[in-house]
Amino acid sequence: MEKWKTQVLPPDDENIRLAGELLTQGEVVGFPTETVYGLAANAYNPDAVAKIFAAKGRPQDNPLIVHIASMDMLPPLVDNPPALAFKLAEKFWPGPMTMILPRSERIGDEVSAGLATVGIRFPSSQSAQKMIRACGLPLAAPSGNLSGHPSPTTAAHMLHDMDGRIPLIIDGGECQVGLESTVIQVKEDRVRLLRPGGITVEMLEEICPVEIDDGVLHAVDANAKVASPGMKYRHYAPIAEVTIVEGSLAAFRKYMESVAGDGVYAMVFDGEEDGMPVSTLAFGQMGQPETQAHRLFDLLRQCDDLGAKKVFVRSPDQHGIGLAVYNRLLRAAAFRIVKLDGLSE
Ligand code: TXA
Ligand code: MG
Repeated sequence: MEKWKTQVLPPDDENIRLAGELLTQGEVVGFPTETVYGLAANAYNPDAVAKIFAAKGRPQDNPLIVHIASMDMLPPLVDNPPALAFKLAEKFWPGPMTMILPRSERIGDEVSAGLATVGIRFPSSQSAQKMIRACGLPLAAPSGNLSGHPSPTTAAHMLHDMDGRIPLIIDGGECQVGLESTVIQVKEDRVRLLRPGGITVEMLEEICPVEIDDGVLHAVDANAKVASPGMKYRHYAPIAEVTIVEGSLAAFRKYMESVAGDGVYAMVFDGEEDGMPVSTLAFGQMGQPETQAHRLFDLLRQCDDLGAKKVFVRSPDQHGIGLAVYNRLLRAAAFRIVKLDGLSE
């Protein structure tokens, strides 16, 4: 579906105005947020929203998040949100948190995929906020990748996937967080975590109890009824076969000797490259999950560029945003894990 000569432009006033005009006219625009790049359209315009699904090749049963740039924009989109939603908004918005709330009648089935709820996010990215204000519309926006590819964390990633499919990408540089927003269902007195992200379980627990949905750490059956349709799809996946490897660095090195071969790569923590028997990709600092989150999707894309056939990844810690790193890796690995506990140092 090559239709456009896709422009990539910096987020200055003139280009933000252009983005706002395109959105008002019912076109789609690529834009940066603090999490990943998104592909936006007017949430109130079904034809515009349909263009998102077409450009991404996204399954129709996967609902979209709606982005706002002020608390005034929230009431028309939702129906009787629990008081807890406002408490969470006060604490974590603007920022990388999406709240699933009962939808109002203004949200169409094409946005919510027929669910009774809608995901709302107020991004902290200044470029994202300016673009929303430029058109004055709530913007439905999934991540700006082709369906099944890793989310884009640079304009170059997004151009790679969307070249010719959309008129414009606003280039705001590298995304700060690097993984998609935390998605929570908000109940009266608690939240349920559907997708971990930059607003961590530990942070949410300062406000209310947090239930962790099974889909965060376990495979869900393709036919199962899931809380979040996105859980069903094999996301974030490079072409290579990815395997998570648990165990010590010494055990990992020994294991890599046994699997070494053409197109085999090791994704290791910074400083662990020396002495690996295969080519390495460094994936952030051990115990510093923010650095891993920031780089993960770029590395998964590099695996494709390098023609990697098999990628073995050191298993990250699961505290803080590490839970989100682990969750994305599990999906990239289609839940393939090797445990090396039996091997001595
Ligand atoms: O950081 C982000 O959230 C990025 C940026 C662009 O804001 N957006 C993003 O959108 O990651 P997307 O569509 O790639 O992922 C949204 C996830 C999907 O897994 C979808 O199934 C889930 O949120 N979701 C959306 N609306 C939902 C709803 N009403 N109920 C349950 N899950 C929902
Ligand atoms: Mg996505």
